[in-house]
This record gives sequence, C-alpha cells and structure tokens, in this order.
Amino acid sequence: MTAGISEEIDLYVWEGASDIAVRAERSLAGYDVNVMRAELGMAPPGGRDPNRPMVAMVSVTVMSDARFGGGEWLAAQGTPVIWVAAEERGRDPRFYPPAYSHTLPLSFTGAELRALLFRLAGAAQQAAHTSAHAPKPLVAVSAPMRELLSEAEMFADCRTSVLIHGETGVGKERIARLLHDRATWSAGPFVAVNCGAVPEGLFEAHFFGHAKGAFTGAVGAHKGYFEQASGGTLFLDEIGDLPLYQQVKLLRVLEQNVITRLGATTEVAVDFRLVAATNRDLRKRVASGDFRADLYYRLAVIELYVPTLEERGPEDKAAIFKALLERELPDVSDLPQWLVERVAATRFAGNVRELSNVVEWVAIVRRQCGNWNRERIERVFERLADCSRILGVPASAAPAPAAAQHPVLSEAEQAERARVMVALEANGWRRQDTAAYLGISRKVLWEKMRKLQIAGGQGESADMLGPGDGGAYS
Ligand SMILES: Nc1ncnc2c1ncn2[C@@H]1O[C@H](COP(=O)(O)OP(=O)(O)OP(=O)(O)O)[C@@H](O)[C@H]1O
Ligand SMILES: [Mg+2]
Repeated sequence: MTAGISEEIDLYVWEGASDIAVRAERSLAGYDVNVMRAELGMAPPGGRDPNRPMVAMVSVTVMSDARFGGGEWLAAQGTPVIWVAAEERGRDPRFYPPAYSHTLPLSFTGAELRALLFRLAGAAQQAAHTSAHAPKPLVAVSAPMRELLSEAEMFADCRTSVLIHGETGVGKERIARLLHDRATWSAGPFVAVNCGAVPEGLFEAHFFGHAKGAFTGAVGAHKGYFEQASGGTLFLDEIGDLPLYQQVKLLRVLEQNVITRLGATTEVAVDFRLVAATNRDLRKRVASGDFRADLYYRLAVIELYVPTLEERGPEDKAAIFKALLERELPDVSDLPQWLVERVAATRFAGNVRELSNVVEWVAIVRRQCGNWNRERIERVFERLADCSRILGVPASAAPAPAAAQHPVLSEAEQAERARVMVALEANGWRRQDTAAYLGISRKVLWEKMRKLQIAGGQGESADMLGPGDGGAYS
C-alpha cells in the first residue's frame, strides 16, 4: 500500500468505567474506522500512520481525572476530541467541556456518532482528503457488471443464501453489502466475518458466543456472530477456508436456526440472511472432499459471479479509475487522455483493489507536483509490471475471454430464473412439488435449473439431487 491517503480513521477512546468503546465499535462496524482503547494518562501510541486522521473520544469522568490532565496533548496536536457526558453532568461547571472538544450525550446513537466523527475526521485532514469519507461509488459500466448488479438487486430482498464468487479484489464484499442495503432488513446489522482469520480453537466462542463464566476470562456474556447478525445479514468471507469440522457446525445452525452459547444451557433462535464469498473454486473443493457438498448446496442457492477487471474490459477500468480519483482530488477536469488509456490497457492482477492503489499513487503525484507528472506516474505502472512478472501474469491487458466462467443470462432468462427460484422457495426446494407447481415434469425443471444456473438447492434428500448430479455445474 502506498503511503499517503488512507480511507481509515483512528478513533482512540479514553474511558473510565463506561462502555463507550464497545458501543462505538458496534456503531462503526463495517466502516473504515479503527476503534482503539487508550490508556488513561497516556498519549496515543506512536507509530501510527500520520496521514490517517485521528479523533479522540473521551468520557467526562476521564476528562476530569487528574491522570488524563485534560488531555492537552491532544489539543496541542490538533486532534479533535469528542467529549461524552450524561446530560446532567454536562451542566455541572466542573465538567464543562474544554474549548477544543465537541460533545455527544452519553446516550449517543450510532448515527450521531458517525455524523460527528466523519465531520471531525474530514476537518482534521487536508481539504482534499475530506471527500474520501463520501459514500464509495460502485462503478459498473460494462455489460457483465450491469448484469451482475441487476441480478443482485433482484435477489436482494429474498432470504435465501447467496454465494458470491470471483477473483481477489473484484468487489465481492461490495456486492454483499449491496445485497444487504437493498433488502428490507437493511436497517438491521451487517456482520462481516473473514472465515480465514478466525483463530483455531476460537471458532465456537466467536460464532456461538459464550455465557458468563463459560471459560477463564469470560467475565461477561458475549453474543457470537450468529446472534449479532440476527435480524440482518451474516457475511461469511473466504468461506472456502472454513475447516471441515466448522462446516458441520455452520450447517447445523443453518438447518435449525438455533444456537447455544458456550457454557449456556438454553437455545437462542437466530434469523439472518447468509451471504458467503469465496475466491476458490468451491465445486473443486467439494470434489476433493475439502468442502461438504450439503453445505455447498445450502450456501449456493443463488450464485453470483463477480467478473474480473479483464472480463469487464477497458471501459470499466477507465470509469472506476476516474470515479476513485474524483474522491481523492478536488479537480480532475484536466485528467490527461494518455493516463486514462494507460489504465485501460493495464492488466490488474489484483483487480479493483490494485487499481485503487494506482489511484492513490496518482493522486499523491498530482498533489505533490501540481501536475500530472508523467515520469513519476509511469513508475507505478512499472512497479505493477514488476509484480506481474514475479507472479507470472502478463502486465498488459489480454483480450477478454470469449465467455466468462458463467455465461451471462439474457433479460428473459433472468426473469424466468426468478420465477423458478420463487417456485422452488415456495415448495421448500422439493423438485417434485416445484415441478407440479410450475406444471412441468421434474426432468424439464432440472434442465431449466441447469440452464438458468440455479444451484442444486437446499437440503440433501434424494429428491433434491438431479440426474447426473455431479455434472450439474460442469
Ligand atoms: N465496482 C467498483 N467500483 C468502485 N470500487 C470498487 C468496485 N468494486 C470494488 N471496489 C473497491 O475495491 C476494493 C476491493 O473490493 P472488495 O473488498 O469488495 O473485493 P473482494 O472481492 O471482497 O476482495 P478479496 O477477494 O480480496 O476479499 C474495495 O476498496 C472496494 O471499495
Ligand atoms: Mg473480500
């Protein structure tokens, strides 16, 4: 990652006995904010990225504590301070907020915190960086991306599981977020979990939560991801990395919709929409015995493939480049054509993520040089070429493959796919009943599902497996 502009904000919380940090964390889940607890009486640790805006959040009890000393060091370096106090404390002259602080009531809502935080972080950063906290654009100009978005919108509001697959950095998480934002439960939680990053042995504690005193250190009860996501969306990223024994546990929760916290005796009902993502070929993992077929079928009720930048073509690369650059720089009206063409002709092995690194680099050059210094901008493309050589990928764009991994469905086919999906849903994914419902034979239904790229359905009963089951996705 190039140094310079970062989209992240550091939020340091100094608190006494309150739970401000926990509530801040909850309100800011899914946003690019690192919430960190700071030691009483100590300045924030050194070694932070100075380009990242920092905001402090201080509870009134700490602010008036001699060990905090009023936090003058924060004011001295121009750090904005959010002062959190119960309303009646705020009226007590001993607890008046210092001149450099902004106030939030102790009963602050997530929306209040976010509004103030992003405003302060923007002010703390150079004016040019302020725009980085604007909503991120989701650019889709090419036909395959537009198809994908319309498909995502179509399936956003149904509770069935979705499996998103695609190469690294293509925007799988953005699609997961879109599915949540367009659903009727969008006001509910969106809990994103990287399955590859769950420490061994802590799967149960993280996913199922624990009761008070369940193990040493479990001082309070804790909700796991399943419960946290209830009423919203659970996004399981890198699902292909889930070890087999964890797959069994996940499958059981999906089947029964109840969980038991570690050390608890009672069951808790959970209700969430599951969206999973992977950059691995899950079908191959099923074939090799590394991924359970029954879980695969349950996850892949709806499958969405996010095309690579190469598959999307030069127009998407140019459009994403411009849109991301506009967020970094106040004015891109004089963006030179050679630069847009250079981007469009480059092959980004790391897809949109790599392209956004190029954007950061270009923005820094533009700001530091005051012009589009070609020599310096070229260096980033040279560096990309070096990386590609190491990774063995050609650096310049290859012609897009004739057909993407999933042929794109026509509008009529998409409408039919939706009709069949609804019928399957209405009949609990039982082929026999669904076929009768649609007035067609089981064989015709099977063929339709295959043509319309509908995965094998939920459950494992023989009725749900079609003829030549293994070849269904080949
Ligand atoms: N269509 C798009 N328009 C603009 N920005 C995008 C688009 N798609 C992805 N991005 C940006 O690219 C970066 C990578 O996206 P995302 O994290 O969703 O990819 P991913 O497929 O989940 O990656 P990984 O496989 O590494 O988990 C993010 O910063 C995201 O905001
Ligand atoms: Mg991801």
